[in-house]
Amino acid sequence: MKFKIFVAALVTSAVALPSSYSLGTPGSHAHLFSEDVTNMSFPEGFMWGYASAAYQVEGGWDADGKGESIWDYDAHNHPDWWPENQNGDIACDSYNQAAVDVELLRRQGVNTYRFSIAWPRILPDGTLNNISQKGIDYYKDLISQLKENNIEPLVTMHHWDNPRAIEDKGGFMNETIIDYFYDYAELLFKTYGDDVKWWITFNEPKQTCGGGYDYGGISPNIRNLGRGGYICAHNLLRAHAKVYRMYEQKYKATQQGRIAIVVDESWVEPASNSTADIEAAERANLMTVGWFAHPVVYGDYPEIMKQRIDSRSAQQGLSESRLPKFTEEEKIELKGTYDYLCVNMYSSVLGAAQDEAPITDISIGGDISVNQYQPDDWEKTVTSWFKVVPWGARHLVRWLRDTYGDEKGIMVTENGYHDSGNEMDDLNSRGRYHKLYLSNLNDAIYKDGVNLIGYMAWALLNDVEWYAGWQVNLGHYHVDFDSANRTRTPKQSADYYKKVVTTNCLVDSCESSTKKIKLA
Ligand code: NOJ
Repeated sequence: MKFKIFVAALVTSAVALPSSYSLGTPGSHAHLFSEDVTNMSFPEGFMWGYASAAYQVEGGWDADGKGESIWDYDAHNHPDWWPENQNGDIACDSYNQAAVDVELLRRQGVNTYRFSIAWPRILPDGTLNNISQKGIDYYKDLISQLKENNIEPLVTMHHWDNPRAIEDKGGFMNETIIDYFYDYAELLFKTYGDDVKWWITFNEPKQTCGGGYDYGGISPNIRNLGRGGYICAHNLLRAHAKVYRMYEQKYKATQQGRIAIVVDESWVEPASNSTADIEAAERANLMTVGWFAHPVVYGDYPEIMKQRIDSRSAQQGLSESRLPKFTEEEKIELKGTYDYLCVNMYSSVLGAAQDEAPITDISIGGDISVNQYQPDDWEKTVTSWFKVVPWGARHLVRWLRDTYGDEKGIMVTENGYHDSGNEMDDLNSRGRYHKLYLSNLNDAIYKDGVNLIGYMAWALLNDVEWYAGWQVNLGHYHVDFDSANRTRTPKQSADYYKKVVTTNCLVDSCESSTKKIKLA
């Protein structure tokens, strides 16, 4: 079943290691795991929220003239890729129940809500030729309800759901997507920019591109190993840069918002303190997280990535590198196109040196050539790639700070726990997961001095976990997918998270702190 491919796609995620690291004993790294929870308060101004994505919660797939997305297309043309009828046609019905969701957010006490706008809801064929007023109004209304409740909207423009009409032109394989996305983004700034101060262009481009156009597992699920992902990423990064610059030149002075791109990981920890493993883990992190973070911070792909793919391409007898090159103008345009650094985090892996992949292996994995694995004694969840590794969260944000700086602030834009979605007494599973990850992030703030500005839990609701339907879920609220109104019921994790966000404290009582988050 397709879900397996999806899971395989996600496990290829990654990140790496500051040079000043204390590695401890090589091996399983079980010694790094601790159940101790800090009693330090989170800094003043910390952004606490939930994250979601349009396809996963909205439903209303063709309501009021919405255009077909690539996921709608898959749901209707490849039903065998999904658990029976568990797709986004209705999902959580949030298209009709935005007020219910906002009420739950209010009850949870969060100050931020990250959601995505479905491009084909606003522009049914992806272009300005047809603007859906009903689509525009849906998000206007959601944004104003959030603001009435003092909840800051944090808006993702693209969370994997290309309009089918744009995909028919090649999607991210065709550079024309840059102009289409630019037009769409400008419409969003014009329409919502007075109210939205926190923007994200793309969610998890490594998944969009790797899963979408390279190794499969994410719609449009095209396999073009070792090539498609790089072409997609190149066009996506150019689109990101153009949108960032447009906002900077035309809207920032009046609208005063911030723009970022969300990178995703599985943090890659060196499997041992040998130089070879340390280098291997660093390479894996740079060629996954750095694939996107490096260009937006420094204007180009990491050196090691360029060297390796150029050299392997030449050895493969290709006349050009499989990794496209930015022009000098594009590098200048890209460099510094972020106002805060966003990362989604779930799990971690160990990275060990291995023999160079055979030159016949044309793939992203072959280009990286690092043995990435999770020891059997790491704590499991329902999903094969997803093990509970709280210390990885701290190492990851520390590495981001050391590699990219944190003066503009680092935000965790997703973190959450996979189970079947039906466990209501999830205090010791999901609740504990958030507690331990947050405790490690709090240590990163106080012990390592990382400027972490916010944390978005995934997710408020059980939802459509893409090709896994609702077989796997992460919500703090159970959703009855058999009921017409998709009844939402809080799990124990909802109460725990509410306590955390309303007190800034993970345990019964905390030491107060005078620390404040720093924004650029
Ligand atoms: C990352 C994706 O951004 C989100 O859509 C997904 O549901 C979560 N991972 C949970 O697996």
